[in-house]
Amino acid sequence: MRVLITGGAGFIGSHVTRALAAAGHDVSVLDCLHPAAHQPGSDVREVHGVPVRRGDLRDRDTVESALAGVDAVVHQAAMVGMGVDLADLPAYVGNNDLATAVLLAGMARLRVPRLVLAGSMVVYGEGAYACADHGPVRPAPRELADLAVGQFEPRCPHCASLLDPGTVDEDARLDPRSVYAATKLAQEHLTAAWARESGSAAVALRYHNVYGPGMPRDTPYSGVAAIFRSALERGEAPQVYEDGRQRRDFVHVTDVAAANVAALASLDARPPGLRAYNVASGEPRTVADMAATLAAAMDGLAPVVTGAFRAGDVRHVVACPRRARDELGFTAQVPFAAGLAEFATAPLRA
Ligand code: UD1
Repeated sequence: MRVLITGGAGFIGSHVTRALAAAGHDVSVLDCLHPAAHQPGSDVREVHGVPVRRGDLRDRDTVESALAGVDAVVHQAAMVGMGVDLADLPAYVGNNDLATAVLLAGMARLRVPRLVLAGSMVVYGEGAYACADHGPVRPAPRELADLAVGQFEPRCPHCASLLDPGTVDEDARLDPRSVYAATKLAQEHLTAAWARESGSAAVALRYHNVYGPGMPRDTPYSGVAAIFRSALERGEAPQVYEDGRQRRDFVHVTDVAAANVAALASLDARPPGLRAYNVASGEPRTVADMAATLAAAMDGLAPVVTGAFRAGDVRHVVACPRRARDELGFTAQVPFAAGLAEFATAPLRA
């Protein structure tokens, strides 16, 4: 297929570009080289031999010329992470939602009927929980008074007792809790509307915590794996927030790329509409565990569990990877220990 990859010069996008080209697709890349992901003044001209067309997805002419002759779009371009403060709000909405709207309008006009969207687990807010008395519940954001005294587990919205965490599946209630999360969920809604109205097939891949070679270094937009790796490189101990027992699913970027290849291959066999999939390793770990494993692999200082917290962080987000396995044939291949051992010395992007 002739596939346009938006954001194909970024951390995840460049791995997706390589994987789709290796799978035999005729790929092209459109990327604005956003300063949050690329060094100012950087001029990336190709990714794994694929030329990069530099342009802004919010611009209709740019998008339509990139879409000419294309069979499918793999939409990775986005502004990611927690951001700095609310001054980032228009940039998130512009880069994530307005850009997606311009892309979808162009796909409708030029009749490009297939889309794979890079989604995020942030659309869930907190993961899945059960109360001993009330069964499955969705906890409200944690109270600052609890966090301040080191009570990090969320409470039952009915009886305030502490909850047991479980795995979150794609039918979980969606509860975006940050500007970024709201823009990632809006992308899914816009894509679903486009798919229904144009009779097209689309998949949203809800990435869990992605890490691997080419991850951006320590910036306000970086994930915890890059923050810890940068600290260790400076000879500092990783600072683990809360009590370190919060859990995430750390999934290797080459597995994420493989999920994109599988999702694209699935499109022709599905009815019009959008379907979402968790993209996860299925091997959840605590943040303290990840810090200790990376510190050992880098022969660095042991992590420090600080008890500090970020208001707005969720406690546990652990994916159920079953739907992607059953419907896309996708199972992550990189084991946690091997992935982190490689990540310890992998190049990062400046
Ligand atoms: C957040 C974003 C997510 C994004 C990811 C990486 C939201 C709600 N979530 O998810 O979309 O993909 O960041 O940019 O916007 N931690 C430490 N020490 C640190 C930094 C973080 O212990 O120095 C802890 C955090 O408290 C958290 C965990 O590590 O418990 C993971 O943090 P992070 O990598 O930022 O990812 P998420 O919170 O899962």
